Amino acid sequence: MIIHSQFENFKTFCGDSIEAQNVIEGFVDMIFADPPYFLSKGKTVRINGQYKKFDKGEWDQEKSFEEINHFNYKWLEACKNVLKPDGTIWVSGTYHNIFSVATCLQKLGFRILNIVVWQKSDPRPTLSTQYFSFTAEYLIWARKSASHPHFFNCAKMEEMNNGKRMPDVWQIPIVRPWEMRCGQHPTQKPLKLLHRIILASTRPGELILDPFAGSCTTGIAANLLGRDFIGIDKENQYLRIGNLRRLELENPDIVARMIKMLQANSSEPTVMVNHARKSTKKIMLEKGICYLRAGDSKGSLLVKPGFERLQYVLIHTNGEDCHLYKLRSKGIFQIWTHETLVRHGFSPSNAPYYIVLHFDTSKEITITKDINLKAKRYSYVAKIMPISELI
Ligand SMILES: C[S@@+](CC[C@H](N)C(=O)[O-])C[C@H]1O[C@@H](n2cnc3c(N)ncnc32)[C@H](O)[C@@H]1O
Repeated sequence: MIIHSQFENFKTFCGDSIEAQNVIEGFVDMIFADPPYFLSKGKTVRINGQYKKFDKGEWDQEKSFEEINHFNYKWLEACKNVLKPDGTIWVSGTYHNIFSVATCLQKLGFRILNIVVWQKSDPRPTLSTQYFSFTAEYLIWARKSASHPHFFNCAKMEEMNNGKRMPDVWQIPIVRPWEMRCGQHPTQKPLKLLHRIILASTRPGELILDPFAGSCTTGIAANLLGRDFIGIDKENQYLRIGNLRRLELENPDIVARMIKMLQANSSEPTVMVNHARKSTKKIMLEKGICYLRAGDSKGSLLVKPGFERLQYVLIHTNGEDCHLYKLRSKGIFQIWTHETLVRHGFSPSNAPYYIVLHFDTSKEITITKDINLKAKRYSYVAKIMPISELI
């Protein structure tokens, strides 16, 4: 196993998670595992008119039911051996692996505590029309032993949920561009998800293991919250990203910004981020009018939660030359026809209706954060962002 241990509180090992017990001295307080879901079938899918191979990597290739069960049993057994008697484990998954994980946990004597639904507030579109859209992942939380009580910070969870008991359905957005500054992992988890998990189930100073660490989201959240981290992954390229992310935490300004992002609440004002061709953008900025197609075709906006909190508009061209303005009226938009836009001097594409936002051009707002709209492959797709990601 290759060991990277530049920091005492952040150690990563490149190797197989089944060997976890060989690299850990003593025991860990909590394990978060985001194992392969075995989703990749090597099939080609059509996304926005382009054919792409749906493939997360060799480690995620579809396997037989027996192979998945065997794999899950082996790594969970290894995890059980390194967990303290009162320790807990979180495992994420979708229907592809989660039932196998639950069965193996029970066979190994773990006691399941909750199944949390991570409801993605901004899921990627489901391409096939044969299913309901896929918007959730599942997190099993279990404790090692039936007899040893586990730790749960109920009060902290209530505080984070406006004084009400935290439910088992969590609305959290998918990973944001600012979390991928050090490189991209194909299945990176959002920091906000790990932040909540760690606050709920560990105390400061405790030791957390992630046997499928990838880009080490668990480790970053752990260290931000004063917990120690051990991560294992068989791909060195991902651990390298994780270690770069950890290096970033040496910068107090970056840490302060991350904490602010993590604390951003669901009542925060949002920004409509909209791509426009250079010539169209010029007219938009002159007139204080921004428009986008209604619907879910290329470049248009599918109205999602957050729209009702819209207070700003950011207009860019292919991720560059960004301009941020406040809307004239909070949360107000109009639907215009193609003809109305033409009458106002625009040359829209051929859609019949457009969402129109009016913004105040008298005062451009300075963007103070590093944004990389190009980090998302489809920068022309309109999206809604919390304002704290920009200023
Ligand atoms: C779903 S990803 C984890 C992503 C991670 N949560 C993050 O936020 O970046 C699963 C990871 O498990 C790793 N992996 C797959 N099989 C493994 C094994 N047998 N032992 C160790 N790592 C493995 C893959 O390289 C991949 O990075």
